[in-house]
Amino acid sequence: MRCRICGQPAVINMRHHKLSLCAEHYIPWFIKQTERTIHKYRMFTPEERILVAVSGGKDSLALWDVLLKLGYHADGLYIDLGIDGGFGYSSRSKEKVLAFHHSHPEANLHIVDIPGIYAESVPEVARRKHHMRRPCAICGVIKRHEMNRVALSEGYDVLATGHNLDDEAATLFGNVLHWHVGYLQRQGPILPADGEGLARKVKPFARLYERETAAYALLTGIDYIYEECPFAKGATSITHKETLTEMEHKSPGTKLQFYVNFLRAKEEGLLCNAEAQRVELHPCERCGQPTTAARLCRFCRLWE
Ligand code: AMP
Ligand code: FES
Ligand code: ZN
Ligand code: ZN
Repeated sequence: MRCRICGQPAVINMRHHKLSLCAEHYIPWFIKQTERTIHKYRMFTPEERILVAVSGGKDSLALWDVLLKLGYHADGLYIDLGIDGGFGYSSRSKEKVLAFHHSHPEANLHIVDIPGIYAESVPEVARRKHHMRRPCAICGVIKRHEMNRVALSEGYDVLATGHNLDDEAATLFGNVLHWHVGYLQRQGPILPADGEGLARKVKPFARLYERETAAYALLTGIDYIYEECPFAKGATSITHKETLTEMEHKSPGTKLQFYVNFLRAKEEGLLCNAEAQRVELHPCERCGQPTTAARLCRFCRLWE
């Protein structure tokens, strides 16, 4: 397996692109692909301020790294969820984020300490709400709320997350299996700000495979947390990922086509009737973020 550009031994073979590259040529290729996605979906401009949500994992740290290399004004946000059971997931992931920031002092890093602010860690909230075995749903509500809160209160134009193609394809698969029309309507690499309290959200790695972001992180020496969150085991999203990976293995490009063709079909009017079903949003009485609920948003109801 040789690099298509220079003929040296390749470090990665991307069967879906019929492309093999050496390390020297893979890194700029990866950065260019990210930049193309940013431009294609008009995610943000060089003048805008970007808040990158960094978990300490490979995707989000790689994203922060690429955005800084491209010269964007990108700051980081780490949310300490207080998941310290087992091997100290939160404290170890925080260490990775701090180490990355240490070597990129030109950027700012915001840290939100959930147990410090709200007097309870995510597993504690989940226990109180009887979601003991899997706090992931509650965790998602808390993360989304805090990301939006910081992006708006600190005056960022856009919030970027490290979701990759494998994440997006698995979410799409789940949404299609259940025909969650509302979720399908909102799923995509960019979700515009609503002007009433929801920040613009973007996923610049949405068209890059997980093994491509992993290869970038490894080849550029980014130190990241390898372990998944201890609660992720057995999650349906992981089962969907495995199913799609099996299909991808038999037919390279399956995930990319599944996702990209969905976006194209949506642009061409698939789901256009779903627009009419859009529910009315109004400000939460306590925090002011938009919600469909009568009084309090899902986040604020957690602390009732
Ligand atoms: P996940 O939901 O864990 O697959 O993460 C998806 C994306 O959400 C990551 O790529 C990050 O951009 C962001 N994210 C996840 N966990 C955190 C966290 N604790 N702090 C900040 N951002 C996070
Ligand atoms: Fe939130 Fe695992 S990261 S429950
Ligand atoms: Zn090469
Ligand atoms: Zn609220």
